[in-house]
Amino acid sequence: MNIAEKFINTHELTKEEYVELIRLAESDVQVREQLKEEAVRLQKKYYGTDVYTRGLIEFTNYCRNNCYYCGIRNGNRNAQRYRLTKEEILDCCANGYELGFRTFVLQGGEDPYYTDEKLAEIVREIRVLYPECAITLSVGEHSKETYRLWKEAGADRYLLRHETASDELYQKLHPAEMKLSERKQCLYDLKELGYQVGAGFMVGAPGQQISDLAEDLVFLKELEPHMVGIGPFIPHHDTRYAEEKAGSVERTLLLLSIIRILLPGVLLPATTALGTMDPLGREKGLQAGANVVMPNLSPVKNRKQYELYDNKICTGEEAAECRGCLSRRVASVGYQLVSDRGDSRM
Ligand code: SAM
Ligand code: FES
Repeated sequence: MNIAEKFINTHELTKEEYVELIRLAESDVQVREQLKEEAVRLQKKYYGTDVYTRGLIEFTNYCRNNCYYCGIRNGNRNAQRYRLTKEEILDCCANGYELGFRTFVLQGGEDPYYTDEKLAEIVREIRVLYPECAITLSVGEHSKETYRLWKEAGADRYLLRHETASDELYQKLHPAEMKLSERKQCLYDLKELGYQVGAGFMVGAPGQQISDLAEDLVFLKELEPHMVGIGPFIPHHDTRYAEEKAGSVERTLLLLSIIRILLPGVLLPATTALGTMDPLGREKGLQAGANVVMPNLSPVKNRKQYELYDNKICTGEEAAECRGCLSRRVASVGYQLVSDRGDSRM
């Protein structure tokens, strides 16, 4: 039995074995195919050919943090900053609801302008207007009390990528005041409060080794999040990593398959970053085991300003109606977008 077969049977390996698995898969196309087939089998067992959608509302690109890879980090003086008003956010939801979205994701930098109470008020309004919709927040690291306030206001889910489970790499990618232990604590707090939680990382982040990815897999198995967001790292011209190579599409697809096998019922998005690196990246993501897409619902006038990395897709006028475009793309590979909250089946 090779390491891939062992993984398929047990859904869990040691850190050293994950390294072996990734190395073997990257050198042997048959092993890659075997993992992909198993990932798709599990995806279909849990979710059939349904693909869930989340309407992404990027409501602020102000951020107090300085993650070195991120285009909207605080230190980037060239970023054109914007904030959406509560009314604009509610308009995005209304538009999204009309289009069939039943999950709204409010994402932004860590922007102190939206105080805990201000954001709670926005969540309460969305909860009252759309009782059957899921509300997801993705606004970074906060205290357990703040997460509790937002949960009580009606938030159901929270996305907070751990970014990397390796302490050393985490410290290289972030300023000293950011700590991996604190980020992990946030994820455990969120789980304890009853949120459906999404963790995740970038593939091909500057300096990332296969052993770092193995550590990510060990951490994901331990955390058991409901969702895992992974996408290739893509350089942004106003960061210290402007000249770095982007993460590989092939490696991202392999990791999507591995994560589907690791956590069979997990929600796994085919991300915009994957679609940015390859025009058919999101379709390939679904065919590797992903089952979620996150089209942009932000006002078209602001989309280019939420520039985490260069050449981000779906930011032009033509992208105003992402859902129609994605619906055709998803159908082209034998899946269908569904109008559903899309809860995890773990
Ligand atoms: N502030 C929130 C947080 O920290 O979770 C949410 C916004 S943050 C911009 C969302 C995600 O974008 C990050 O978790 C990171 O993985 C991803 N990201 C940032 N810069 C990126 C880059 N250059 N390439 C690919 N993904 C990037
Ligand atoms: Fe946005 Fe196609 S997915 S324009």
